[in-house]
Amino acid sequence: MSRRYTPPGHHRSVEAFREHLRGLDPAFDCGDELLGPEGPLAKPLTVFGRNAGNRFAVHPMEGWDGNRDGSPSHLTRRRWRRFGLSGAKLIWGGEAVAVLPEGRANPNQLFIDGERLDDCVVWLEALRREVLAGHEESGVAGHRPVVGLQLTHSGRLSRPDPPPALPRPLRAQVHPVLDGRLGEAANRPLVGDEQLEEIADAYVRAARCAERAGYDFVDIKCCHGYLLHELLGAHMRPGRYGGCFENRVRLPLGIIAAVRTACPDLGVGVRLSVGDVAPFGADGAGVGVPEVESARPAELGFGLNAADVGLPEPTCSEAIRYIALLIEAGVEVVNVTMGSPYSCPHLSRPFTYPASDSYMPPEDPLRSVLRQLAAVRTVRAAFPRLPLVGTGYSYLQEWLPYVAEAEVGAGHVDFVGLGRMVLAYPRLPADVLAGRPLERKRICRTFSDCTTGPRNNMVSGCYPLDEHYRRTPEFGRIREIKKAAASL
Ligand SMILES: Cc1cc2nc3c(=O)[nH]c(=O)nc-3n(C[C@H](O)[C@H](O)[C@H](O)COP(=O)(O)O)c2cc1C
Ligand code: SF4
Repeated sequence: MSRRYTPPGHHRSVEAFREHLRGLDPAFDCGDELLGPEGPLAKPLTVFGRNAGNRFAVHPMEGWDGNRDGSPSHLTRRRWRRFGLSGAKLIWGGEAVAVLPEGRANPNQLFIDGERLDDCVVWLEALRREVLAGHEESGVAGHRPVVGLQLTHSGRLSRPDPPPALPRPLRAQVHPVLDGRLGEAANRPLVGDEQLEEIADAYVRAARCAERAGYDFVDIKCCHGYLLHELLGAHMRPGRYGGCFENRVRLPLGIIAAVRTACPDLGVGVRLSVGDVAPFGADGAGVGVPEVESARPAELGFGLNAADVGLPEPTCSEAIRYIALLIEAGVEVVNVTMGSPYSCPHLSRPFTYPASDSYMPPEDPLRSVLRQLAAVRTVRAAFPRLPLVGTGYSYLQEWLPYVAEAEVGAGHVDFVGLGRMVLAYPRLPADVLAGRPLERKRICRTFSDCTTGPRNNMVSGCYPLDEHYRRTPEFGRIREIKKAAASL
């Protein structure tokens, strides 16, 4: 597949990159030189009652590599250790841990087993210790990182059994396009209200485990198309948890209140998709286009733009209404993200090279990054004192620290959250903070192999740049899959 936009890494100077950036949107800029240890990324901030010694956060990143009993494998532990090795002082959730086995998005997702809660506490604590051990190794001075656990239920994306078994989606509402992608499995009934209330209890039980395992906070995940995110946009759902705004926010707010009562000393954060677009698919040329099969498509999600469902709503109006309620409920930090990697990966994880089930970017991926940065600025303007984590930085490549210093320095965001970059180059934050030059050969070039792997029932990892994965037979299979896709 041919590339249509200049990736940031092709610019040989910060001036050339800046011209590209400002050509897309003059509201953005970056400095000429990095400030490193003297700069805004090295400044501490108190979150969840603890001192976070710098402004790097590691986003949650699953590996599709847990054991079938829901516990972590050696690969899971290795990933968490590398999160710590980054030197980032905020570890946002580690990875999505399902609160029930049937709420897993894949058979190898970590889950809390209600029959074996003590065992879960043991492995949760072991994962947290991997982060702390990695942080020790990072050489970044100061307090230990603030560590959270992301709790999830996959909702319509539930697929707890290995193929060829069908997925077991728990849909919050009827969605003509997304239901079509589920095939026969879409014949299952919508998740009922009572079932939702049982799921809420499972979140509280999981939060208790996280507290016992020493986590500083839990993230009640409301993003990326999973259950609570779909409920937020369930305009068409009947009953207590759908339709009007008050009904749509009822379940996540109820979960947060119950967690706060059960675990008063545990912090609560929320990762929220503040804006979304209609599901995208490939057109005849393989380029992403919104798929619309409804008279009122903006009512099929949260934060869609009624004027153009191909572009997220720029004022984040419903998200802002919801965040005001989150703050009242005691949520201390919000991690701002957009869309879903299953239905609009170009927005959720801007890339040059699509994953095997994806499409060519419909816009300059740098523009998609700017949508994420603009969204967090909008939330910041509405809530100047609420600590915020931003998303979408990995695509910036060499210029990531330049943009990060500019955004944090201007107070548009508090933490620069890193996803794929940490899989490829875990020590990037430590290098930036120490003022060391970046190791160019380690920089994530958004090849999307970490997504192509799991989309084809393999574990995730940075196959092209992480020596461990490069040596596995799976890397050969991924290359074959990409070659076959390119020849179509
Ligand atoms: C392999 C992989 C696993 C991910 N797992 C999670 C997850 O468990 N929870 C979550 O909220 N986001 C998950 N994400 C999304 C990332 O946290 C992040 O939002 C996304 O990659 C965009 O940030 P980036 O541009 O820095 O990569 C995952 C992304 C990838 C590529
Ligand atoms: S496989 Fe590695 S280089 Fe490719 S997108 Fe994932 S982290 Fe980046």
